[in-house]
Amino acid sequence: MQDCLDRIATRVRPLAKRGRVADYIPALKCVDPQRFGLAVATLDGEVHQTGDSMEPFSIQSISKVFSLVLACNLVGDELWQRVGRLPSSNQFNSLVELELNQGKPRNPFVNPGALVIADLLTSRHTQMERAMVSLLRELSGNSTIDYNMEAAAGEFATAHRNKAAAYLMKSFGNFHNGVDEVVGAYCAQCAITSSCRDLAVAALFLADAGTHPITGRQVVAQQQVRQICALMMSSGTYEVSGETAFSIGLPIKSGVGGGILAVIPRFGVMCAWSPPLDDSGSSVAGLKAVELFAVKMNKTVF
Ligand code: DON
Repeated sequence: MQDCLDRIATRVRPLAKRGRVADYIPALKCVDPQRFGLAVATLDGEVHQTGDSMEPFSIQSISKVFSLVLACNLVGDELWQRVGRLPSSNQFNSLVELELNQGKPRNPFVNPGALVIADLLTSRHTQMERAMVSLLRELSGNSTIDYNMEAAAGEFATAHRNKAAAYLMKSFGNFHNGVDEVVGAYCAQCAITSSCRDLAVAALFLADAGTHPITGRQVVAQQQVRQICALMMSSGTYEVSGETAFSIGLPIKSGVGGGILAVIPRFGVMCAWSPPLDDSGSSVAGLKAVELFAVKMNKTVF
C-alpha cells in the first residue's frame, strides 16, 4: 500500500496548481500551496502515510462530521427537526434556501446546518469547541490537538455571512443562543488543527459501525454511522457531491483548509491534504488522490 500512496502523491501533487488557496479566512491565505499529505488508517490499527501527513492543518468543515457525531449522541433523531438531510445545489455558505425553507438548513454540512448544530451543542456544553477538541484528542491518541485561536478570531472578525445565517435562523426560531457566542464557537471548531494521520485515525469509527477499533469506544450508534456516511456521500462536498459520488463513490467531507476525509467502510479511513481548492471549496489534488486510491484498490462502496 505504501508504494501505491507514494505513486498517487507523485501523480496528483502537480494538480494543486489548478486550484486556489482559500483567502476569505485570513489564516488560510498564507498557507503554502505546495504542502501535500496523505494517510490511510486501517481497522487493524495500521497507518500508511506519505508527504506532509503529520503536519497539522486547519480542518475547517471536516470538523462538521465530528460536531454531527456529538449532536447525534446528545439529541438523537430530534436533531432532524432543526436540520434537513437533503443535498443542496448552492454553495456551502449560501443563504438562499434558508429563507425558502423557514430557517431550516438543507443538511448538517452546509454552514447554516453546522451553525444549528453548534447552537445545539452550545445549549448543552459550556464550551462546545472544547468538547470537539477532547473528542479528537481521545480518538486520535494525540493529546496536543487544539484549535488555533488566532485563526478562529480572524475568521470571526470576517464571518458576516455566517452571522447573517445565524440571525436569519434566529428570526425563524431555529437558533436559540447568542449569535456571537455560537459563531465564535463554530469558528473555533473550524480552526482546530490536526494532521492527515490524526484525522484518519480519529475517524476510524465511521468505517467500523460506530466503534473505534483502537480505543474500543462505541462513539456513535451503528445506525447513526450509516446516516452520517449517507450524508457525507450526498452533501459532504456540497453542490458537487453528486459528481464526487459518481467519480469516487465514498462518503467524503472536505474543508477549505484543503483537507479531504474519506470513509472506506469496513476497511479504514483516508485523509488527504493539499490547500488549493476547486470552485466548490474542496481540495483539487486531495480529491484526485482519494479517487485514484479508491479506484486502484477497488475500495468504492459500489
Ligand atoms: O464557515 C466557513 O466558511 C469555514 N469556517 C468552513 C467552510 C468550509 O470548510 C467549506 N468546506 N469545504
